[in-house]
Parts: sequence; C-alpha cells; structure tokens
Amino acid sequence: MKRTVKDLVNLEGKVVILRVDFNVPLDDGGKILDTTRIVQSLPTIKYLIEQKAKVVLISHLGRPEGFEIRKSLWPIALILIKALPTSVHFMNKVYGDEVKKRIQDIGNGEVLLLENIRFYKEEIECDMEFAKKIASLGDYFVNDAFGVAHRKHATTYGLARLMPNAIGLLMEKEVGALRGAVDDPKHPFVFIIGGGKVQGKINLILKLLNSADTVIIGGAMAYTFLVASGVAVGESKVYDENVAYARDILDIAKEKGKKILLPIDHVCIKQSAKRKKAFVSEEMVDDMIAFDIGPKTRELFKEEIKGAKQILWNGPLGKYENPAFARGTLEIAKAIAESEAYSIVGGGDSVSVVKMAKVENKINLLSTGGGATLKFIEQGSLPCIDVIQDKILFKR
Ligand code: 3PG
Repeated sequence: MKRTVKDLVNLEGKVVILRVDFNVPLDDGGKILDTTRIVQSLPTIKYLIEQKAKVVLISHLGRPEGFEIRKSLWPIALILIKALPTSVHFMNKVYGDEVKKRIQDIGNGEVLLLENIRFYKEEIECDMEFAKKIASLGDYFVNDAFGVAHRKHATTYGLARLMPNAIGLLMEKEVGALRGAVDDPKHPFVFIIGGGKVQGKINLILKLLNSADTVIIGGAMAYTFLVASGVAVGESKVYDENVAYARDILDIAKEKGKKILLPIDHVCIKQSAKRKKAFVSEEMVDDMIAFDIGPKTRELFKEEIKGAKQILWNGPLGKYENPAFARGTLEIAKAIAESEAYSIVGGGDSVSVVKMAKVENKINLLSTGGGATLKFIEQGSLPCIDVIQDKILFKR
C-alpha cells in the first residue's frame, strides 16, 4: 500500500510539490472545453491548504514543442482562483531563485501554480538534473496526476526518486476503484470496449477475460472481430494485421466459457451513393460502411447491461461526434447510468460521451485517465505509482 498525502504530518509551512494532471481539452482558440480534471484535483489541493502547507502545483498541458502561448496554464490559474478558498499565485517559470523567493514570500496555506512543465523538453526526457532543480524547491512530493502516471517523466517519476513522497487523494481513489473492479469484481461483470485501434487493446481484453463474464465489443474495432468470426463487413474499417489476434481472443473466450457480444446490425452509409444517407442494415455488403450499432444491437447490449452488477466501459460504440451516428453510444451510456451496476467509465473519449449523454452524476467512477487507465487495468499498476514509498504499517 502506498503512502498517501494523509500520511504526511506537520505540514504547516512546509512546501509540498503537488503534481496534477490539468491536461484539459482545448478548442482551436485555446479555450478550455472541460474542467473535470481540474475539479477532480481539488480535494488534494484543499486538504493541503487546510494543513497550512505551501502548495506548489505542477502540470503539463498538451504536447507543446517549447513555449506556446495557447498551452499556458494561466487560464487554469484563473479557474483555481475561483475554486479555492485561498490566494492562488502563478509563475511563468518552474525553477530557479525567483521561484524560490516567491515560495518564501507566499503565505502558509496558499497556492503557487507553475507554468506548463512540458515547455521544457527535459520533462519528457526525465532529465534528473532538471528534476533536481525542481526538487530543491520543496520538502515533499505528492503525485496526484493519475492521468499521466504511465509516463516516466521528470515531475511524475523523477521527483519521487529525489524527495519524500506520497500519492494524492485522486490517485488513491482511482487506484482503489480500478484495482477493486479488476481483482475483486462484482458478478456479473460486463466489460464494454469500443473505439478504434485494436492493437492497443488486445492485452486489455485478454486480461479482462479472466475477471469479466461478458465482453461487449462495439465501435470501429468490432469490425475486425466480425471479420475474425467470418462475418462480411462491407468496406467498414478493418485492422487486417489484428484479425488473427481477434480470432485468438474469440477462441480463448470460448475456452474460458466467457460471452463475447458483437454488433448484429449497423447504422451505415453506402460509399457509392450520391446522397450519403444513413440507414440500418443487418448485412454489410459491397461498399457499405458502418458507423454505429443498429437498434437490435442496442437492445442486445442493453439487456446484458441490465443484468450486470459491475460495468467497466472504455471507448465509444460509433462515430458519436456526428449526430447521425451517436445514438448507439448515447443509449448505452444512459443504460449504464440507469442500471444498478457499479459503473466505471475511463479512457480517452468515454468521459466526454458520458457528459454528452448528461449522465456523469450517475456513474460511480469517471476515471481521469486515458491511456493511463487502460495501462493500469492491463498491468495492475503504473511506474509513477510503483516509485512512491510504501506505507509503514505498524503491528501492535
Ligand atoms: C492524458 O491526457 O492522457 C494525459 O494527460 C497524458 O497526456 P500525454 O498522452 O500527452 O502524455
């Protein structure tokens, strides 16, 4: 068990470097589209404020190459100013004498947000000299950035090797919920996976075939599995290099007595048609391309969801960004929200889908991780969690 921020004592006046994941979605003009990750980080920040620590926040935003004004964390400072019951300061540097002086000057229980750490290429290179400069700013390192805990970077991994450390409350919550769901699931456990890119999800499905009772496969990746089971898919996107893996997964599921559900009808278009009007079809022939699950599939999947005691969902079941192909994904989101099952939604697009369906308050855990959530489920841990000190358990 890892030390948490609550295991750090006598924090008054101590400088705590808190790594968070404020990597929020932005529109083309740099406007923040969704603040979930900021909101989910508040409990740890507020806890440290209550302990009267000086809180130094570090985060990345996007994948900038050097300084990019649109990727500045300044707009996030403005959000924190409104959300926190203390003074929030901002600096456009991340180390050095000026930063040290500023930390000295701020009051206990106040917050200093540093500029986007990825403006420095040393961050992703996990440059330990760079990490040392940042470590010299503080007394403790707390990692609450679950969303980037799969990346060994200077301030996600390097700092933990240089400073007394702990995980934050968000990290603790996500790790606990995901671990419990995979290692000690409530049955029937239904795993729903969608989206594209079969390759990155093969190990995840194999791992979950051990604990899930049913695996529902939708979205673009379903067509690779349909081809593997001998069904024609017209000209729908198929990852040819993954058909053999998909076949293996179907065989393994059969051997283990697990159910795999694939789409039985589709919302598609005809490539050659002049007007590309969406229609429903059970058979995919000629130049038909599927972009969503059809009504029969929706009912089939919903029936399975109704009987579940635990659901884990990753990835949309259609091209939901286009309203003509959003129905399958939105109805499944609502069915999960209405079910009695303990529900976890995580990874990439899934959280925006849940918000689009306006059911975010009815999901038990909305994981802040994209790739991190999937890697955590697959591997059972992540490098930036492993590197944190273990809790000392006293035996009486
Ligand atoms: C994410 O959004 O998945 C995390 O913040 C990690 O971002 P990255 O994929 O750019 O490292």
